[in-house]
Formats: sequence, structure tokens, C-alpha cells
Amino acid sequence: MGVLVTASSRGIGFNAARELLKRNARVVISSKNEKNLRKALDDLSSYGEVYAVRANLLDQVELENLVRESWELLEGVDALVWNAGNVRCEPCILHEVSYIDWTEASTLHTVAPGYLTTLFVQTWLERKTKGVLVYLNSISIKEPMPPLVLADVTRAGLVQLAKSVSRTYGKHGIRAYSVLLGSFDTPGARENLKAVAESRGETFEETWEREVLGRTPLHRTGRWDELGSLVAFLLSDEAEYMLGSTVVIDGAMTGGISL
Ligand SMILES: NC(=O)c1ccc[n+]([C@@H]2O[C@H](COP(=O)([O-])OP(=O)(O)OC[C@H]3O[C@@H](n4cnc5c(N)ncnc54)[C@H](OP(=O)(O)O)[C@@H]3O)[C@@H](O)[C@H]2O)c1
Repeated sequence: MGVLVTASSRGIGFNAARELLKRNARVVISSKNEKNLRKALDDLSSYGEVYAVRANLLDQVELENLVRESWELLEGVDALVWNAGNVRCEPCILHEVSYIDWTEASTLHTVAPGYLTTLFVQTWLERKTKGVLVYLNSISIKEPMPPLVLADVTRAGLVQLAKSVSRTYGKHGIRAYSVLLGSFDTPGARENLKAVAESRGETFEETWEREVLGRTPLHRTGRWDELGSLVAFLLSDEAEYMLGSTVVIDGAMTGGISL
């Protein structure tokens, strides 16, 4: 299976790509920074067939190029695993953010995944092939965290997008899922939590304990094999009847029950 994983030079995207390679997928990784991307490609190349395409998710032409190049490199893309970086102002406090912060968050978390979805659905329909979209999202769209408000308002629509794609194109073999992630130990998460700790006058360890470890009965972050197994399952035909679903992987961090 040929899979494009976006925002994958480090953190969640990188580890999702590695887990898919370990499970025999052929993968294109992507990020906006050429140097980071080359390093990630080096690190991943021993795991299987992997390529890299530089693309800024905030740029329309680069998104179009990303789809075209991925298609050529993999000789067809069967799935998109959507992941994004963090909004630049994060931790963004609502009364401090600018118009630019709002447009950037919307472009990153709504326009980019929406447009990539349009491009892939068009291509899959034209070629009469199946396709799967997995949107990596956050549990904070269910239980808001104030410093993530811009991201959460703008990525909450991925749940709608997964349902809408599945209901409209499911009969053509095109399905989508939204995955709500709890805490994963990444450079981005650590940078975010460091900034939160500084703004509250706490140590990083105190903030990490309260905001990350202390929020789950397991007292740990998610493991990469756990995320990889879930994504691989959603990409497989075995998840077909679950099309359109929102799936939670959060160590029971969230308290609410959705029926
Ligand atoms: N970590 C968690 O616990 C957690 C939980 C729930 C949700 N999330 C969400 O998951 C996403 C990833 O988080 P993370 O912790 O893995 O972040 P991270 O460690 O900061 O990694 C972010 C990745 O995004 C890439 N990137 C950033 N801006 C980009 C752009 N404009 N175009 C293309 N690529 C770009 C970066 O690559 P370059 O710098 O090389 O371009 C990097 O590969 C974020 O949206 C975060 O809010 C994270």
C-alpha cells in the first residue's frame, strides 16, 4: 500500500510513517524544512521503501505538487495520513492572538486537509480506485485546552470531513476516519509544555506531570506501536464498515462518553 504521511519529519508524523513502514507500507514523508526532511528520510530508509517530498502545508501550489509527486513516486497513492504541525503562536491565548494567527490556524487545520482531500478524492474517482483518509486530530476538540484553542476550533471540522467523505464517496470505496490523540511524547509537545510551564512560573516536570502523565490512569504517554497498529488497521479493508468514525486513543484522558 502506498501512503502519504504529512508533517512527518519528526514527532507524530515521523513515528506514524515509521510504524507503517514496519508494517510493509510504502511511504512518502513530507515537511516544509528540507534539512529536517532529509534527516528523517535517512533515519527511515532502513525500515522500507520511503521517499520524501518537501511541501509547506500552508501553500496551495506546494499541496498540489505534493499530491502529484507522491503519486509518481509511489505509482499511485492508496491512502493519506493527515498530520499537521503546531500553530506558530501556540500556546495561543485567545485574547492575545492576531488576525494572522487565526488565518494561519484555519489554513493549516481546515483548508490544507480539506484541499488535499479534494485532490485525492478527484484522483481516486477519475481512476476508479479505492482510497483511505486518516486525519490525525486531538482529544482537545472534545475537551478543550485553552492554550490550544485556535488549533481546536479549526481542526474540529476534521470529524465532519471524515463523515462527509465517507457518506458521499463510500460507495466508490473511498473512506475516512478522524483519530483523536491523547498525549504522545514529541519534540513539539515538549516545546509547548515548556512554554506553558514558563508562563505559569512552574518547572517543566511539574507541568508535564499535571498536563500529561497525571491525566491518564496509565501515567504514561501513548506508544508508537499503539498508534501505528491503530492507523494500519484503519487503512486496512478490515476497518471498512467503520468508515466515517471518530476513534479515540488517549489512555482514558477524556472523561466523557459519546454514544
Ligand atoms: N504530541 C501530542 O501529544 C499531540 C496530541 C494531540 C494532537 N497533537 C497534534 O499533532 C500534530 C503534530 O504534533 P507533534 O507533537 O508531532 O509536533 P512536532 O513534534 O512539532 O512535529 C511537527 C511536524 O510538522 C512539520 N511541519 C510544521 N509546520 C509545517 C508546515 N507548514 N508544512 C509542512 N510541515 C510542517 C514539522 O516539520 P518541519 O519543521 O521539518 O517542516 C514536523 O515534522 C500537531 O497538530 C499537534 O497539535 C499532538
